[in-house]
Amino acid sequence: MKLGLVSVLIFSLLLSIPFVTGAADSESEDAAETIAAGKKTYKEACGVCHDAGIVNSPKLGDKDAWAPRIKKGMDALYETALKGKGGMPAKGGRADLSDDAVKAVVNYMVSQAK
Ligand code: HEC
Repeated sequence: MKLGLVSVLIFSLLLSIPFVTGAADSESEDAAETIAAGKKTYKEACGVCHDAGIVNSPKLGDKDAWAPRIKKGMDALYETALKGKGGMPAKGGRADLSDDAVKAVVNYMVSQAK
């Protein structure tokens, strides 16, 4: 009987662990989700130029090309991505994308260049 109670206690303790750690992780999970969403949109809307560096666009993952741009700060990068500049069309030519979706892609692109 005693053993039964102890194992019930241990069992319920084990069950509660994922919930506790899950709560602590939710913020970093949000960031990871944003990056994952950005990666998907990147493939659909931005990779056509940024995969190959077409018309002198900074190539995905090219640290040298991105370093001076990242220095300008995220707000400047969002601004260019949303409004366009030179060969970079506003929202990569995808006016249907929300501002947040475009910013998520910029977060993804910057995460690949660090
Ligand atoms: C038609 C080709 C093309 C497409 C499609 C495109 N880009 Fe670009 N992108 C460029 C070029 C060219 C530049 C370099 C512009 C410059 O610095 O003059 C650039 C630069 C950028 C920069 C750096 C901006 C800065 O201020 O240095 C970001 C961020 C960016 N693009 C994000 C995106 C995102 C996000 C998408 C998809 C939604 C996208 N691009 C789609 C051509 C493209």
